[in-house]
Amino acid sequence: MEKIFERLMGIKTHGRDGTSVIEMGEEDSLFHEQVKALRSKFEYKVDMLKYRTVAVTSAIAGEGKTVLTANLAYHLAAGGRKKVLIIDVDFRKSDLARGLKISPLPGLSEYLSGSVTEKDILRNYFMPGLYVITAGTRVSNPGDLLTGEKFRSFLKRISGEFDIVILDSPPILPVADTLSLRDQVNGFIFVYRARMTPHIMFRQAANEIGEKNIIGVILNGVEPQNEQYYKRYYGKYYSKNTPITGD
Ligand SMILES: Nc1ncnc2c1ncn2[C@@H]1O[C@H](COP(=O)(O)OP(=O)(O)OP(=O)(O)O)[C@@H](O)[C@H]1O
Ligand SMILES: [Mg+2]
Repeated sequence: MEKIFERLMGIKTHGRDGTSVIEMGEEDSLFHEQVKALRSKFEYKVDMLKYRTVAVTSAIAGEGKTVLTANLAYHLAAGGRKKVLIIDVDFRKSDLARGLKISPLPGLSEYLSGSVTEKDILRNYFMPGLYVITAGTRVSNPGDLLTGEKFRSFLKRISGEFDIVILDSPPILPVADTLSLRDQVNGFIFVYRARMTPHIMFRQAANEIGEKNIIGVILNGVEPQNEQYYKRYYGKYYSKNTPITGD
């Protein structure tokens, strides 16, 4: 299990306490510097391993999935080399629309129910290479929607139109929805808010999703100077003066 940490993508986001919105384009802040470092490592993996579709998940709610998905996508698109799509597949909460301050409707659930077309839900956002699909109206059977044929063929088709599609997914332990994505994505980025989430929950969730399916772990909310956590998770890869390679 600890081998997972060898796949750490080496971000220790710290953001500002109480950050409540998804703030993009603040080039100078430490948070954005760290997301940019994450972007570079992720982009390298995308290119080398030919990833097209990746899901972001975590053990429990509130670990930073939506904030990191949006900011990672922003910096990927801002690099100018990738056409990026974010899809909010957390039908229970639909947080992405709120975070980006865009209308949640129509979204993916409207498309899957057949009331709108793909063109109606695909929205260009903020810059030419960045697109967003919101979750749409809450549904009572998210797991079924994500395993359904309509979602499968939609995801397959739309992945062909982008360099990378990132799914903002529900947390693993409270609901089974995300497990439905296992055979539809190249892998999962696992967000772990180390000081908030008990390690045992992280391990349990990682087991559920399957270690081999985890392409990277983002250690969120750990202060760069917090050596205790840094050492614990980076282990032998940790060295104060050596950049982390992420592999
Ligand atoms: N590194 C950080 N520093 C400070 N605040 C953070 C950080 N990461 C996330 N937050 C804040 O924590 C809260 C939860 O983040 P977010 O909504 O991204 O989590 P989530 O994993 O998507 O949650 P959910 O499972 O409920 O969808 C938000 O208020 C967000 O701004
Ligand atoms: Mg979220």
